Amino acid sequence: MEHLFERGLGPRNPGGGSEGGRALLRINYESVLSGLPDAVVGVDEALRIILWNGAAEALTGKSARRVQGRTLKEILAPDSSLVRHLSETLRSGESRSEAEATIEGGDGRPIPVSIVTAPIAGRTGTVETAVAVLRDLSRIRQLEAEVRRGETLAAAGRMAVGLAHEIRNPLSAIRGAVQLLRKELGDEARWGEYTEVLMKEVDRVNRIIELLLDLGRPVQLRPVPLNLHQLLERVALLSEEMAGSRGVRIVRRYDPSLPPILADEDRIVQVFHNLVRNAIDAMPRGGRLTLATRLSLNPLFTKVDLGSGMRQLVEVQVSDEGEGIPEALRAKIFDPFVSTKERGLGLGLALCHRIIEEHKGAIHIESVPGKGTSVSCFLPIAR
Ligand SMILES: Nc1ncnc2c1ncn2[C@@H]1O[C@H](COP(=O)(O)OP(=O)(O)OP(=O)(O)O)[C@@H](O)[C@H]1O
Ligand SMILES: [Mg+2]
Repeated sequence: MEHLFERGLGPRNPGGGSEGGRALLRINYESVLSGLPDAVVGVDEALRIILWNGAAEALTGKSARRVQGRTLKEILAPDSSLVRHLSETLRSGESRSEAEATIEGGDGRPIPVSIVTAPIAGRTGTVETAVAVLRDLSRIRQLEAEVRRGETLAAAGRMAVGLAHEIRNPLSAIRGAVQLLRKELGDEARWGEYTEVLMKEVDRVNRIIELLLDLGRPVQLRPVPLNLHQLLERVALLSEEMAGSRGVRIVRRYDPSLPPILADEDRIVQVFHNLVRNAIDAMPRGGRLTLATRLSLNPLFTKVDLGSGMRQLVEVQVSDEGEGIPEALRAKIFDPFVSTKERGLGLGLALCHRIIEEHKGAIHIESVPGKGTSVSCFLPIAR
């Protein structure tokens, strides 16, 4: 069915021509609706679905053919926001809106959406149908989370720089005193054990401070064109022995046609080293650790402005077949000091985030409990 919209553009129409400046603007509403990025859902008085555009299909994972002729309450939970708002609009004849609602996605997970409804009056003037427009907010939420994460890290880093200064001096005094003590106590093994522990722990605190300082201080990046695959091989070599001893097999899936990336070699090696270590740690009973590269297909991260023009991004994925990251932990995973490991500092991912951000890239984690985790790093190419 083609809906036509007729409108006289009058004398302002530049191509006025022979019809005296009058033009017909024909709009096929169905194609407009199907091309909209927002989901549009229409219902009649009985909440029977009469309109379900392409974006509604994508959002809910339910095809228009499947929902046709059924009521909204059969398709969605009867107490869901959308059902409630549309029912109220039909009843009151007034528009309703909610900035922070959720709707069940195709995989059963809640998707954050904003909802606006509007009544549509029939020929007699009474409200016979209502439509709702739903906007998927998950991408916006994801970007907001990125920004917040960056701010938390920057704040933690600033605090660390202040603290580190105060802690380092007493710490080196302690270390010096322990060394003297060791000398004084001579070879007696019993005391030696204690001084050993003291030294080890002091060094551990020192390492934590160094890492925190890395998070806090602005570093001077020295980005140069780098062969990504050589770099990943360096990382793989560093971890090969540890992986082997844990029954972890490293699998490569490289796109050989990728151009060089623009990165600071030492910093980027740090990132992948941390990610590979995490992946190995996640598979205590062994499994596959996959290193994959390709040009980014993620619509959020395809290009970046480096000041000297737009650069394409490549995606480097480090995937494991481990236990995955519990839902409750996911939001905090990039925060410093979040760790589930006995000897973990919880600084690895915080540092990765910081370094990738310095490169104007992005880092993104997908994890399915019981199946595994996949960390994607997006980095700009060199030209
Ligand atoms: N690939 C993964 N699979 C499952 N859980 C992971 C994975 N990567 C990270 N995690 C979880 O995120 C937490 C934080 O990781 P992060 O690398 O920041 O710190 P860590 O590994 O615990 O300590 P470290 O500072 O030594 O890296 C981990 O303790 C772990 O619970
Ligand atoms: Mg780690």
